Amino acid sequence: MSKLWGGRFSKQTADLVRKFNDSIGFDIRLYNEDIDGSIAWANGLVGAGVLTSDEANQIIDGLEKVRVEISEGSFELAAGDEDVHTAVERRMTELVGPVGGKLHTGRSRNDQVSTDFRLWTKRACAAVIAEINNVQQAIIEHAEAHHDIPMPGYTHLQHAQPVTWSHWLMSYFWPLARDAKRFAQVAESVDELPLGSAAFAGTAFPVDREALADALGFAGVTQNSLDGVSNRDFAVDFLYAGTLLGMHLSRLAEQIILFSSTEFSFVVIDDAYSTGSSIMPQKKNPDTMELTRGKSGRLLGNLTGLLATIKGLPSTYDKDLQEDKEPVFDSYDNLLIILPVMAGALRTLKIRPDKMAAQLEPGLLATDLADYLVKKGMPFREAHHVIGQVVQAGEDKNIPITDLTLHDLKEISVLFDDDVLDAFSVEGALKARNVAGGTGPTAVRQQIEQAKSLLD
Ligand code: ARG
Repeated sequence: MSKLWGGRFSKQTADLVRKFNDSIGFDIRLYNEDIDGSIAWANGLVGAGVLTSDEANQIIDGLEKVRVEISEGSFELAAGDEDVHTAVERRMTELVGPVGGKLHTGRSRNDQVSTDFRLWTKRACAAVIAEINNVQQAIIEHAEAHHDIPMPGYTHLQHAQPVTWSHWLMSYFWPLARDAKRFAQVAESVDELPLGSAAFAGTAFPVDREALADALGFAGVTQNSLDGVSNRDFAVDFLYAGTLLGMHLSRLAEQIILFSSTEFSFVVIDDAYSTGSSIMPQKKNPDTMELTRGKSGRLLGNLTGLLATIKGLPSTYDKDLQEDKEPVFDSYDNLLIILPVMAGALRTLKIRPDKMAAQLEPGLLATDLADYLVKKGMPFREAHHVIGQVVQAGEDKNIPITDLTLHDLKEISVLFDDDVLDAFSVEGALKARNVAGGTGPTAVRQQIEQAKSLLD
């Protein structure tokens, strides 16, 4: 078996060790990035006087053929292809002959893998951001289509104050806006090229690293070759951004699960986004939302796993770092299904304004009643106490507070007057909250406009 590093070994690698050591099973998906990096390196070696242009062109030609083979599925793995780097180089050399052996001059798989992975992560950030934007768009569409629908708002899962559906739903837009921004920051933290660091001490050939960075679309080059090959902050950043995104989606999913329960029935998840039970014929289960909630756990696991892998490593490259890619690929793959499923589920989500209205009980207006007294000159603390007594009076008589007579109210405070009925309306409560960011209809319209201009 021919190995790229076989020269000093007198025995074959044990089969078990080969299996243990190989990463080709998962890092083959870096082939495009590996080939892009190798093409840039071949050109860099021309600049350094290591390769002639003709030699570089033969190598590049071979690399492009390998790219086609892998993308078309005709690429055949050979014994000794332990990772994407060895596989691509081995096949390219088979195709172009001994000149292929010159490509690895002055570089190492250590700077190569870090370069590939950074290139991949940069592209991955852009893909995740596009999918986040798609969910944000779905939220805006739904909020606009159901603008003035009142529903109870909750704190501690208890009835609190009325809000509108659009305001409630838009509260999930802004976390996603922060997520998109966070992924853009990850892309920035990725944006330094380690190629030229070689194994860890820096390449001994006068390759122009800035030109390499330009060719590969990086903003700059890493400033320390030891750090350059061992820095995986960008992978951790990616996983953290993914964890937080997953957490936001999980909270939205949980809320939709709750609202779709028979007890609430505020929303109906579309048949296309639900699944059934194998035994209970009547059931329609919110599996898509449950998986979204469940997968947020694995996104967090990927983050903590990689941090734990890295935390005790001595200087520069250690094979432990090969463990960096699977969690990142896993988080990426999951996000790229979670996000479009959420977008589709939202676009098809039906709401039940009648069920929401049925829950708009007068207790939700208690704060507005306190505000009424404040407007009559009572300090808020006192008003809070007085309204507590009003609620108590309702409970004593076993009637909603809206059914208390003006006489009942006046017994509690003389400030109550005929106009108190105006304070007792959901519409009034909503309209009173047109402060920027509030649930008032005008404020929500402005909020949606802000959201739209952010997406543009
Ligand atoms: N497959 C390896 C990885 O993913 C590539 C780097 C190998 N470097 C080494 N010195 N063995 O990390």
